[in-house]
Amino acid sequence: MGGLTIIFTLNGETVTETVEPRTHLADFLRDQMGLTGTHIGCEHGVCGACTVRIDGDIVRACLMLAVQADGCTVETIEGVSDSGELADLQSAFRERNALQCGYCTPGMLIASAELLKRDPVPTREEIRSHLSGNYCRCTGYQAIVDAVETTAIRRKTA
Ligand code: FES
Ligand code: FES
Repeated sequence: MGGLTIIFTLNGETVTETVEPRTHLADFLRDQMGLTGTHIGCEHGVCGACTVRIDGDIVRACLMLAVQADGCTVETIEGVSDSGELADLQSAFRERNALQCGYCTPGMLIASAELLKRDPVPTREEIRSHLSGNYCRCTGYQAIVDAVETTAIRRKTA
């Protein structure tokens, strides 16, 4: 079956690509665009490892077909990280040991950034609730909540 041509914005650049209709966005980003920071865990929309931003909203890239990105603005962890938007959050993750294997970390960072945009000073319970769809098999979550809370406090007092 032939591919379909899509045109979209990827991390600030206009991209034209031909994709197979059944390819999901996470595979497309990793295999065709070389953006391997979008991780794949469950491929069922459960774990959050594949979290990206589409038109500013967080989306599970394993639940979206690549062809559905046509005309959209797609941001992956690479683009969001390069923009500097996450620098303080990334520092806090390092300081608080909020990652071990790092498999969940791109998704955690994008999801945490969204929370802090929506609610600049969330409670620990709100952080846990917001990140409840992002699974981590290493840290036990405490350090991740610490890192997000630390970032919120630093931004408030900056
Ligand atoms: S790989 Fe997409 S939610 Fe798990
Ligand atoms: S740091 Fe390993 S899954 Fe979260």
